[in-house]
Amino acid sequence: MSSSPAFCHAEAFDLGAWTAVQLALVEQALECWVAPPGQVPPSLAEPMRYAVLGGGKRMRPLLALASAQAVGAPPEAAVRAACAVELIHAYSLVHDDMPCMDNDVLRRGLPTVHVRFGEAAALLAGDALQALAFELLTPDDGSLPVASQARLCRMLAQAAGAAGMAGGQAIDLASVGLPLNSDQLHQMHRLKTGALLQASVLMGAVCGPVEPHSLNALTDYGSAMGLAFQVVDDILDVTADSNTLGKTAGKDAAQDKPTFVSLMGLSSSQNYAQELLSQARASLRASGLKHTAPLQALADKLVNRIF
Ligand code: IPE
Ligand code: IPE
Ligand code: MG
Ligand code: MG
Ligand code: MG
Repeated sequence: MSSSPAFCHAEAFDLGAWTAVQLALVEQALECWVAPPGQVPPSLAEPMRYAVLGGGKRMRPLLALASAQAVGAPPEAAVRAACAVELIHAYSLVHDDMPCMDNDVLRRGLPTVHVRFGEAAALLAGDALQALAFELLTPDDGSLPVASQARLCRMLAQAAGAAGMAGGQAIDLASVGLPLNSDQLHQMHRLKTGALLQASVLMGAVCGPVEPHSLNALTDYGSAMGLAFQVVDDILDVTADSNTLGKTAGKDAAQDKPTFVSLMGLSSSQNYAQELLSQARASLRASGLKHTAPLQALADKLVNRIF
């Protein structure tokens, strides 16, 4: 029996090659935009650059670029959106690792920002990265229409703020030692991690012309992927080692954090992540978009990742 054209297309897609091209764009842009030498006090520039340029999987920028390509958006706008979400993510990690939050000493295989530069520098670097994210979305050279700038800023602000990442982090901190029920755990994960992942997908899409119906489908894809991302993060905290993760494994249980693994056990959490992957694939099929191979491959990668 012959395969359908859509199936053949997905099989033929080379995620590694695609990713290498996208990462080159993202790394070059971040290198140039994040605290360029001479423009920022060195005591702030160094922790900012250390926090952003020191690795990471760059899943959020890749999702933003994949979704921009799915709708045929101009690459210049897409790279700005991709870098802006990564800056919010990097800032969230710097603060997440601080002693007043998760008190972690290892991130991306290196000492955390506060360990390397001190707590005050880490706090300020996070603050400055957050501001820079919005600066990237508001260029004054005419390269991004002002209506798009406002829309992107609003989406990012909502995903990063009290009804998104910061709100989710607040629930996380307030939940230590508490047996959350399934609804509460879903809510926490959707906010602290899901919102920014979903925003990555949607911000990429609104850089271009996108039909409401396709945007709705991408909203569902982003929602499934965002939740799946934190479910897998919870799983890896239990199954992977610190060397592979580049961060301290086993922290969630040690700090008595409620996670999907503590709620439903390891194997049900793994099944749930696969179920979310199926939902994400179905949403892509429903989007009516043709060039979804990168989004499809990223969904597989995100759920089946080992770090
Ligand atoms: C870790 O995010 C924190 C979560 C939101 C789960 P990533 O796993 O994307 O971290 P990096 O960017 O690859 O280091
Ligand atoms: C952090 O979740 C989510 C953020 C908003 C940064 P975790 O605390 O589980 O992330 P890791 O495991 O430290 O990367
Ligand atoms: Mg945390
Ligand atoms: Mg943490
Ligand atoms: Mg974690």
